[in-house]
Amino acid sequence: MLLFAFGTGVATVAIGSPDGAWVAIGHGICGMAVVLLIPWKSRVVRGGLRRARLSRWLSLLLAVLALFTLIAGLGYATGLVRSIAGKPGLWVHIAVAVTLVPLAVWHVWARGIRPRRADLSRRALLRAGVLAVGTVGLYTAGKAAVSGLGLPGARRRFTGSYETASFRPEAMPSTSWLLDAVPAVDPDRWRLTIKDGQGRRELTLAELATFDTAVRATLDCTSGWYSHQDWTGVPLGALLHHGPGTKSVRGPGTQSVYVHSVTGYWVRFPSHDLDRLLLATQMGGAPLSADHGFPVRLVAPGRRGYWWVKWVDRIEVQATPSWWQPPFPTG
Ligand code: HEM
Repeated sequence: MLLFAFGTGVATVAIGSPDGAWVAIGHGICGMAVVLLIPWKSRVVRGGLRRARLSRWLSLLLAVLALFTLIAGLGYATGLVRSIAGKPGLWVHIAVAVTLVPLAVWHVWARGIRPRRADLSRRALLRAGVLAVGTVGLYTAGKAAVSGLGLPGARRRFTGSYETASFRPEAMPSTSWLLDAVPAVDPDRWRLTIKDGQGRRELTLAELATFDTAVRATLDCTSGWYSHQDWTGVPLGALLHHGPGTKSVRGPGTQSVYVHSVTGYWVRFPSHDLDRLLLATQMGGAPLSADHGFPVRLVAPGRRGYWWVKWVDRIEVQATPSWWQPPFPTG
């Protein structure tokens, strides 16, 4: 069940559009299944501790970290514990969950029990069914309690994120995926390099600033907040596609759009995303601040914040498939 919780947790970080909301629900349900399994597991734990092996301390550490992960997840989802030791509670939840991995692998290797024929008995199946029904019931009751008690968690988005500073760009938090620092970009020397079916060319900020397409979109950050903002800039479809008679970027051979930042960070979009991507020069009617991606950042509605590349300096139309990238950016 911890394995399922881990898998659905990772997937929850990736979802950005409502049709994937079931992943977060699945994660919550796995968490509740872990809670319901605690009484059964405790019996096994008591038996194991009686044998007084030295390695029991590692097993106990695993139990403590698993409990901590569970409590941090529940604290964050109810809104009762939004930060832990000054860090976003969700990040602490994820970080501790990641430390579980080596311990859980060791635990299964050292204490694994071989499957037996009896595991497939009608009784076992019945038990699993009762557990499944109980788990869904507990999850549903938990959700109802959060709404009924008016806890902050009731106002979460389907991703689990909390609303922050909508339409107040100056108050919107600034975060970067992993460790990127805010670069100082000189707008006079900065150029946007485009590579598409037309070849290679460079655009200045003044050229990009002539576009004023407005988009209202929600930036949903994996550290647990989201913000609605008005963005202005140039649609990527217009930038890479040069009108009638020229080669379309959606044509054969085009598989992905590669977006690169001055920091070296990059992501690759499927070409069918082009119609909803905007290269923003402004947020809330004012130029972007340095920490929000000046001079230009990508706006990718329906995708999590780590797709919204800041400080963009290069966009390429490529024949490489869009799945040819790590599931989460590594730089
Ligand atoms: C492996 C052990 C884990 C357990 C037992 C666990 C448990 C939980 C629980 C109980 C919640 C509250 C869900 C709710 O009531 O809606 C939660 C929320 C969350 N967890 Fe985990 N989790 C684990 C690992 C992970 C991992 C590895 C990630 C991501 C890499 C993750 C990401 C999240 C996210 C994004 C939420 C917020 C979802 C929401 O608020 O609806 N979790 N977790």
